[in-house]
Amino acid sequence: MERRKMLGLITAATASFGGLLAVNERKSSDSGSLAIPVKRSPHPIKRGKGTLVVYFSKTGKNYPDLDIKVGNTAQIARFIHDRVDGDTFEIVPARPYPADYDQTVEQAQREESRSIFPATKSVMPDTDQYSTIFLGHPVWWGEQPMVVQTFMRDRDLSYGTIVPFVTHEGSGFGNSLDVLGQYYPKARVLDGFSARGTAVHTNPGNARREVNAWLEGLGF
Ligand SMILES: Cc1cc2nc3c(=O)[nH]c(=O)nc-3n(C[C@H](O)[C@H](O)[C@H](O)COP(=O)(O)O)c2cc1C
Repeated sequence: MERRKMLGLITAATASFGGLLAVNERKSSDSGSLAIPVKRSPHPIKRGKGTLVVYFSKTGKNYPDLDIKVGNTAQIARFIHDRVDGDTFEIVPARPYPADYDQTVEQAQREESRSIFPATKSVMPDTDQYSTIFLGHPVWWGEQPMVVQTFMRDRDLSYGTIVPFVTHEGSGFGNSLDVLGQYYPKARVLDGFSARGTAVHTNPGNARREVNAWLEGLGF
């Protein structure tokens, strides 16, 4: 995809905040008093002490016309895991997103505007075992890809510590932190990490240093 088109997409994603609110209003009316229909765990619960790095990342065709074997967010997830240890879980959609970039962009927009929660391939972990969960994803249309929101809907992270990380191509976190707050209003959310996907791809060594500096600042 040419840069102009990508920037248009990012602007459109930012400008579509009104649309995002409309989507969330619909989610709200589906779920009674909850902003988002998270399947809540019974509380109080006994939580574990471990650390889990959860991420979604798309391989194949990526911006700008790259064909990548390890996704940008997957790289960051690996750097985090290398430092904090613990477990990792990759969110894999049951039906892979199209190899074609433009088709993925269109599908992602359709899923977000219609609040479609795509099924995941792998069985999700018991997140109550973990006290700290790193949650990473590319920013898609200004927020979490809907397959990540499937995970967020099905796993109640409200009572743990969440550490968000994203890759993007100009919008930073976009609206994703607001969306996170709507799913888990009570969660403790630490300062997250964001990086341009192209910067991670072209200079992974630098990205690793930035990740380590961020983690050190958080006390990991
Ligand atoms: C469907 C789709 C939507 C995207 N929307 C945005 C966006 O709103 N803002 C942005 O800065 N980048 C956007 N991007 C770019 C990705 O966030 C960026 O390329 C990211 O690094 C991809 O990560 P991954 O390799 O882990 O999948 C989008 C990419 C795709 C495929």
